[in-house]
Amino acid sequence: MEEKIDPWGSIQIKDYEETIDKFGIEDIKKVVKAIPKEHSMFKKKIIYGHRDFGKYLKAVNNGKEFAMMTGMMPSGKFHFGHKLVADMIKYFQDIGADIYVAVADIEAYLTRDMPLEKSREIAIREYLKNYIALGIDVDRINFYFQSEGSTNYNKMSKLFSKNVTQNELKAIYGDINPGKTVSVLTQAADILLPQFEENGGPKPVVVPVGIDQDPHIRLTRDIAYRFKEQKFIKPSSIYTKFMRGLTGGKMSSSDPKSYIALDESIESAKKKIDSAKTGGKQSLKEHREKGADVEKDVVFELLAFNLIEDDERIKQIYRKYDKGEILSGELKQIAKEKIEDFLKKHHKKLDEAEKKIEEMFPQI
Ligand code: TRP
Repeated sequence: MEEKIDPWGSIQIKDYEETIDKFGIEDIKKVVKAIPKEHSMFKKKIIYGHRDFGKYLKAVNNGKEFAMMTGMMPSGKFHFGHKLVADMIKYFQDIGADIYVAVADIEAYLTRDMPLEKSREIAIREYLKNYIALGIDVDRINFYFQSEGSTNYNKMSKLFSKNVTQNELKAIYGDINPGKTVSVLTQAADILLPQFEENGGPKPVVVPVGIDQDPHIRLTRDIAYRFKEQKFIKPSSIYTKFMRGLTGGKMSSSDPKSYIALDESIESAKKKIDSAKTGGKQSLKEHREKGADVEKDVVFELLAFNLIEDDERIKQIYRKYDKGEILSGELKQIAKEKIEDFLKKHHKKLDEAEKKIEEMFPQI
């Protein structure tokens, strides 16, 4: 039987290449040359796969209108794992995409017992505020709550149920309850929203996701194809790697040791780096002889995902660490300097973003 991905469960990927083969996702390598102002996330292979991104890039390079859409279930502090998505939003906004961001408060209510008001507060105070501080022009994004979508959005999410069978849902998700079914159809409406008539009709849309969201992408692509009342272009997707938690397990908002928040004190961030899981060997002698287990090292991951933009520099650190020329302690030192530098600047920007948030949502 085909392996299933549970978007509401937890998933850990050992081998990304094997995974994309299994699910029919294309290697990003094949389209990399067509990416305008190629972001280092592509070169660093933090974005490793895609569906139909080649077609999307063609439209981009031909000066056609295009959009990027993403959504999130707000779940606590905004941390470095979330920053990746914000970086993607900024990148696509900078190359001229129309940006849509859904706050999945309906999904969080249905699948995580999160009250709508709480989702709202976290989305604004944590996510939106950090988006602003990270340089996203929020006046030019379509930022909305699933619970407050337009009449047409609500209509479409219901009509889409006609394009999906129970067997298909079962094949993709396994046993699925009404709450999850509603979440899936709502997400399909999110992903197709940039193509609704009120938003200018059919256009190429890309959705950056972790592979846990791929079931929704596949289903939405089918819905886009089958829906009769309006034409849709099948949405494209790009796949970002998961950042592991600092302690080596999952990065999770419910475990503060596993992440560094973007408003965290520099002192606390450094402490977390000091106790992070490394790929260093037991003894200095062994480390120098055999080199580090770079793939196991979460400090390296933090550097590659967030703290060092230059892909050549990342490759160089990888090689040296892999050969044992750099020690784990030295790697941590680099990370601590970089994070201090970043957080110092970011905290100032967060203070400024606070004003903007108050302007946008005076009642909060
Ligand atoms: N299901 C996503 C999550 O668990 C949130 C989400 C809702 C989403 N709508 C979306 C993601 C549209 C991408 C595109 O995080």
